[in-house]
Amino acid sequence: MKIDLTTRIKTLTLKNPITVASGTFGTTDEYAGYVDYKKLGAIITKTITVKPRAGNPMPRICETAAGMLNAIGLQNKGLEDFLEHKIPYFKKLGVPLIVSIAGETTEEFAKLAKAFEGQRDVVNALEINLSCPNVEAGGVNFMKKQERILEAVKAVHDGTRLLTFAKLSPELGDVLAIAEQILKQGVDGLSVINTLRGMAVNIGSRRSKLAKDFGGLSGPAIKPVALRYVYQVKKEFQVPVIASGGISSVKDALEFLIVGADLLAVGTANFVEPAATREILNGIEAFCRRERLKSLDELRGSYKPAEEKGSGCKS
Ligand SMILES: Cc1cc2nc3c(=O)[nH]c(=O)nc-3n(C[C@H](O)[C@H](O)[C@H](O)COP(=O)(O)O)c2cc1C
Repeated sequence: MKIDLTTRIKTLTLKNPITVASGTFGTTDEYAGYVDYKKLGAIITKTITVKPRAGNPMPRICETAAGMLNAIGLQNKGLEDFLEHKIPYFKKLGVPLIVSIAGETTEEFAKLAKAFEGQRDVVNALEINLSCPNVEAGGVNFMKKQERILEAVKAVHDGTRLLTFAKLSPELGDVLAIAEQILKQGVDGLSVINTLRGMAVNIGSRRSKLAKDFGGLSGPAIKPVALRYVYQVKKEFQVPVIASGGISSVKDALEFLIVGADLLAVGTANFVEPAATREILNGIEAFCRRERLKSLDELRGSYKPAEEKGSGCKS
């Protein structure tokens, strides 16, 4: 029996819901020895900034219980290099492409949107990375931070006809409140969630295990938090959602689909098992076959909320 894994997001039709989380799948063909890229529903690129960024000093990753911390610092070769050297690769590949972008100013966000508007034959959507140095700049108070986030999102949305997704993290504040404001700027969907800030200490040196004090926590450790937010934003706003946060196995992927995720972005799992996307995709298909589901739409959003009655913990 053929299982229909087709995933439709507004104007975009993908052959399946599997994609890769920004920054966890190289820059172009690094994983090609493990995964047939053409089998992926879409590819999300490493975040691109206007100017090249060297990133933070080493060490900038460290393993933690059930996950990892990273403080890469958006290392990338910048917009010009991406347009000149990476776009031709993706054009030839022909897999739906979501470009992750981040600016240090609203003008930079606008510039990135305009640049990729000119690449509509290769690029299908933009993912707006809001956990960038601009919005995290020291001393910026919460209101100011929120204002900047909304300006950035609006600048991108107004600058392109491409689909736009704003990537959120609980680090930005109340996810549901921010999502509501962001969606008012006209973006098409949300990407939920980016990493949670954490730290790890070397007890010998009394220093951080990273060159920075803090890093972004990812992997299975954050999955329950990500699952909860995907569920809540889908329920509250009914907009397309790209889910990321600890998706490492078929069971994880199925849980995210059940709470309503449209796309499943596999991240940290790619470092543990480079063929994770392939295994998850095959597993979803096998599950649907076993459960006699003809299409993913029978599974997506099928979560049954807990009964409100009773005296147990309701939070
Ligand atoms: C090493 C590393 C680099 C990352 N780089 C980016 C990035 O450039 N842009 C971005 O939006 N998210 C970045 N992320 C966050 C992931 O895209 C993803 O949202 C997050 O790690 C949660 O998913 P996971 O637990 O499956 O990794 C990075 C994560 C890791 C581990």
